[in-house]
Amino acid sequence: MPMLEAQDLTVSYGRLEAVRKINFSVEAGQIVALVGSNGAGKSTTLKSIIGLMMPASGTLRFEGRDITTMGPAARVQAGIALSPEGRRLFGRMTVLDNLLAGAHGVASRQVVARMLDEIYTLFPRVQERRRQLAGSLSGGEQQMVAIGRALMANPKLLMLDEPSLGIAPKIVFEIAEAIKRINREKNMSIVLVEQNARLALRLAHNAYALENGEIIRAGKGAELLADPFIQKSYLGI
Ligand SMILES: Nc1ncnc2c1ncn2[C@@H]1O[C@H](COP(=O)(O)OP(=O)(O)O)[C@@H](O)[C@H]1O
Ligand SMILES: [Mg+2]
Repeated sequence: MPMLEAQDLTVSYGRLEAVRKINFSVEAGQIVALVGSNGAGKSTTLKSIIGLMMPASGTLRFEGRDITTMGPAARVQAGIALSPEGRRLFGRMTVLDNLLAGAHGVASRQVVARMLDEIYTLFPRVQERRRQLAGSLSGGEQQMVAIGRALMANPKLLMLDEPSLGIAPKIVFEIAEAIKRINREKNMSIVLVEQNARLALRLAHNAYALENGEIIRAGKGAELLADPFIQKSYLGI
């Protein structure tokens, strides 16, 4: 049984079907990439998985349970977390307070302390800057905080929306290494949404390409990297 499974998922903004009858799954312990151009429906898909948007039709299952109509707080409790596109930090709060905001609903202080420790090990810069206002950090540092905030919920499934967007190449490399470590060391399942298809497909076990709200390719990350259509459309080859 897959950890997450979407069946014929359709998500609409009014009359616009941003995502149309898509089917995909995430196995426990996998990194799954969702690639596609701007406007393809990637963020909409993630919003529907975390419960910020209700699907017009279709079903979502998490660990065998139907979560299609469940609210976002219950989904976080069930073990799903989202680091949203554009980071969405509280700029006038400290880095530490931003991280703690992600632990809302985590009952155990020990878990909160352990997650903070893990985030600081993963991103030493975040520890150095924990007392600073989040808004004063560089884009790359803010992205680390945003990933950290999602990790604070101690999820089983971590979803990252465009973690490399607008970030200096050196920091993109650090974030990619962190994504690999989170997956390997914690065996955490990850859904990675990226316009940077090369980066995402290199990291991913499995991948889907989305175009105009529909899945046009599915396979192993390496298979999509080698696919002539993907190369031409997204890799500039
Ligand atoms: N809040 C919104 N209201 C109306 N349409 C939206 C909204 N957000 C996104 N869309 C539309 O839905 C489609 C998919 O958008 P999105 O999921 O953000 O794509 P991606 O994340 O792949 O760039 C696009 O056509 C976009 O214009
Ligand atoms: Mg998006």
